[in-house]
Amino acid sequence: MTLQFQKALSYYHANDNDLFTQFLEFLRIPSVSTDPTHTGDIQDAAGFLVNKLTGLGLENVQAFQTARHPIVYAGKKVDPQKPTVLIYGHYDVQPPDPVDLWDHAPFDPEVVGDHLYARGASDMKGQVWATISAVESIVKTTDLPVNIKFMIEGEEEIGSPSLEQFLKENQALLACDIVLNPDAGMLAPDKPTLIYALRGLAYFELRVYGPKADLHSGIFGGVVDNPANVLAKLIAGMHDDGWQVTLPGFYDQVRPVSAEERSELAKLGMDNAFFEALTGVEALGGDQAFAPIERVGARPTLDVNGMYAGFTEKGAKTIIPAHAMAKISTRLVPDQDPEAIHHSLRKYLEENAPDSVRWELDYLSGAPAYIAEQEAPGVDLFIDALHQTWGTKPFMKREGGSIPVATAMKQHLGVDSIITGFGLPDDQIHSPNERVHLPTHRKGIEALIRFFTGF
Ligand code: BES
Ligand code: MN
Repeated sequence: MTLQFQKALSYYHANDNDLFTQFLEFLRIPSVSTDPTHTGDIQDAAGFLVNKLTGLGLENVQAFQTARHPIVYAGKKVDPQKPTVLIYGHYDVQPPDPVDLWDHAPFDPEVVGDHLYARGASDMKGQVWATISAVESIVKTTDLPVNIKFMIEGEEEIGSPSLEQFLKENQALLACDIVLNPDAGMLAPDKPTLIYALRGLAYFELRVYGPKADLHSGIFGGVVDNPANVLAKLIAGMHDDGWQVTLPGFYDQVRPVSAEERSELAKLGMDNAFFEALTGVEALGGDQAFAPIERVGARPTLDVNGMYAGFTEKGAKTIIPAHAMAKISTRLVPDQDPEAIHHSLRKYLEENAPDSVRWELDYLSGAPAYIAEQEAPGVDLFIDALHQTWGTKPFMKREGGSIPVATAMKQHLGVDSIITGFGLPDDQIHSPNERVHLPTHRKGIEALIRFFTGF
């Protein structure tokens, strides 16, 4: 244990209350990126970070405006001979809906026992706050032993549309040796975790149009195809009976998992019982040819995220709706190409949609999967920091969620990311009653202090 580490950790313990109060302030800003009515709140959250990072004596602190939401940058160069760590984060959050299912107001954080409840408490204002708390604890007590940069965006939850251009245009500003991305989480409170692969995403909206207006289903049922029936049939045909996706060529580019990796993944304990307990389902689904951890980590999937057609109010109304719509997403794995998946879905629709309807497919967003081909720079130090903090070696895992920026940073900055985080599987992210487990959050800050003082 170095003296630097001890001083910084004591500072953190002495100032935990203050830091926590500021964390609550950050959580009170409803920075929902997808909702245009929250544009002002997004600006406020960026402003909050600019103030905070300026107060820590970081340099060149600014909020770069983009086509949508600002990207906050801050840096501190202490020694050109030392490596530079770029810390990635996002200050935007998912919408809180459905709000009536929350036991606490989503933007009025509340502590119950060991948990703090609020939208963003885990994903990922809590993680951003952990890195800021660690950096504050160090800069207030000692010299930073490493150069750092923060890049905190406001568009992650809508697929980071402005980030790629920002990376391309600011390669010098963002140049770094190590990328720390704490937008993932841990397996359990006693299992620190590092992620070496994430799934990608291709997201679509499919609309099916039939008659020029809603029709009486008695007068016309039997002669006019119902767009809702057609959409349901098309969606049903996208999987076979064993839940394999049937889109032409869908699996062509899937990189198989080696026998060695399979046996490593099996040790993580993410078995049927693990997923059943987390989700409350009676039995798991999906392609039974693969273990659950492989089904979420190493196999692609296709899901309907939402559907709309016809009459959905109370009571009954006898119509053939004029149109029907579904939001469909695919989670992708190495080496699938989102554009190829787009073509595959389009081909399926061309081959299977009947002439009795007209359809339109919009490709909303796409991002390839991420896999570290070699160890990310700095990961050894991070492994040590986790090991010393938790007394156990970190688990290495594939993650089913997506962080498109990891792939973009590898491409434009040439650096693999240390992907980690101190959220837990039952934090209910993107869901009502999102929360963060405070003892784990605090341990995370300790681990981050260890990491930054370990250079
Ligand atoms: N933090 C999540 C990704 C994540 C979730 C990583 C759980 C590890 C464990 C991130 O904010 C997220 O939700 N990403 C979106 C990406 C999409 C909007 C492009 C996702 O995975 O749906
Ligand atoms: Mn996130």
